[in-house]
Amino acid sequence: ASGAHVPALVIGTGYGGSVAALRLAQAGVDVHMIEMGMAWDTPGSDGKIFCNTREPDYRSYWLRTRTKAPLNYFLGLPIDRDIPRHTGILDAEEFGGITVYQGRGVGGGSLVNGGMAVTPKRENFGAVLPSVDADEMYDVYYPRANAGLGVGTVDPAWFDSTACYQYSRVGRKHAQRSGFPFVFVPDVYDWDYMEQEAAGTVPRSALAGEILYGNNHGKKSLQQTYLARARATGRVTVSPLHRVTSVAPAAGRYTVVIDQLNTTGDTTAVKTVTADRVFFAAGSVGTSKLLVRLKATGVLPGLNGEIGRGWGDNGNVMCGRANHLWDPTGALQSAIPCSGIDNWAAGGAFAEVAPLPTGIETFASFYLSITRNPHRAEFSWNAAAGRVDLNWQASWKRPSIDMARTIFDRINSREGTIYRTDLFGVYKIWGDHLTYHPLGGAVLNRATDNYGRLTAYPGLYVVDGALIPGNTTVNPFVTITALAERNIERIIATDL
Ligand code: FDA
Repeated sequence: ASGAHVPALVIGTGYGGSVAALRLAQAGVDVHMIEMGMAWDTPGSDGKIFCNTREPDYRSYWLRTRTKAPLNYFLGLPIDRDIPRHTGILDAEEFGGITVYQGRGVGGGSLVNGGMAVTPKRENFGAVLPSVDADEMYDVYYPRANAGLGVGTVDPAWFDSTACYQYSRVGRKHAQRSGFPFVFVPDVYDWDYMEQEAAGTVPRSALAGEILYGNNHGKKSLQQTYLARARATGRVTVSPLHRVTSVAPAAGRYTVVIDQLNTTGDTTAVKTVTADRVFFAAGSVGTSKLLVRLKATGVLPGLNGEIGRGWGDNGNVMCGRANHLWDPTGALQSAIPCSGIDNWAAGGAFAEVAPLPTGIETFASFYLSITRNPHRAEFSWNAAAGRVDLNWQASWKRPSIDMARTIFDRINSREGTIYRTDLFGVYKIWGDHLTYHPLGGAVLNRATDNYGRLTAYPGLYVVDGALIPGNTTVNPFVTITALAERNIERIIATDL
């Protein structure tokens, strides 16, 4: 309620926010979490909470009147469709040179992501977070994060026999014949549940094309893991459809201004609360946008010059390959990827063998590559337009394409195959207009101290993907979770 006081306020309910809330509550602190998206706990008229990728409806996109599918063409035809404007689950946020996909709702990105739960290789960690003690991370915080998230791996024997991973087996064959290491990738999806889906004994989710707009079964999103444990402490409350717009110092505390939203995105009430401590966990983009604006408009003028800097796209780039008729990838594809091709050391690319769960045979192999793209962008306040801009350039994807090609040019040449040109436009090979993995904007040990403190303002902290300087060499959420575990442990021990 407006006028209330809370000891700890957390902005956002993704990985960073959920870790912070759980650990603060376990330490005896009452926590209030503010989330601009919906709760995603109530079924629609079809009895389902989430819609699937084949029939996107009002639940699919955050305040858009037309879908903006990452893979927006099929057989050269556009697949986007009109939808009612609604506070849907997936935000396709457009900046000048890039579209940044993000989850919206209680659980943040965990609601919409593929659940691929990858710990970076130890030898690559120094490039990911140079100021962090790697021994501590690999001995304590990565194991803690993996346990808290419920990470598991597909049973290799089942993998080899199930129809729904034919596409991954084709991916393995082609990778190995070209001499690339093929790796199983852990995931938070409940693998026992998926085996039961394939056996026909439970309702299908991964096997029904559910992923980008939420999974009705099987996926262990944060709602089932960290947030469930946080709520069970009795010390954590969550306000969905509330968006933080300001955090200002006020007599040793912070005044937090919050818009209450309705499901068409209008502000229906403005509330003000005070908090002793505020944890920015609005995601790389959300946290950066708030901090950049609050600094530039004189609300938090003491924030340092690194605020808004060091943003990267984790080198994301997508592509498809057209297989021969003797290499079908399957009409039934699990929407949860379970494997990858590792060419990081030699070529700067780690490619996820991704599904194309259209429900029909496409003879396509589809990949999302994470690459060592060196470009970093900066957020800045555009006073005339009243918004925060990001100066990423579309041409900055070029190094990512070159790195991905170190894998797929070789495979195409070995297999006598070609790239698909019908998935991202008319005759367009590369999905190079987007990222799923925004990282940075309030980088650890630069914009904050080495534990996420915004030191000019005691009691303000960053705990999410904004801390990570643009690349994690693999999919990022395990690293975001592990870093949050490390930082919150220190903050609880020394600041409370
Ligand atoms: P996160 O974005 O999760 O949470 C931030 C929350 O804050 C959101 O719920 C948002 O609505 C809320 N918020 C923002 N501004 C606010 C404000 N002003 N007031 C209140 N609330 C606000 N990663 C991975 O490791 N493996 C994978 O398989 C995938 N796959 C994948 C697929 C797709 C389609 C996407 C979009 C993303 C992925 N990711 C992924 C990326 C992963 O989901 C992402 O890195 C994390 O969710 C980021 O966690 P954070 O805690 O930083 O923020």
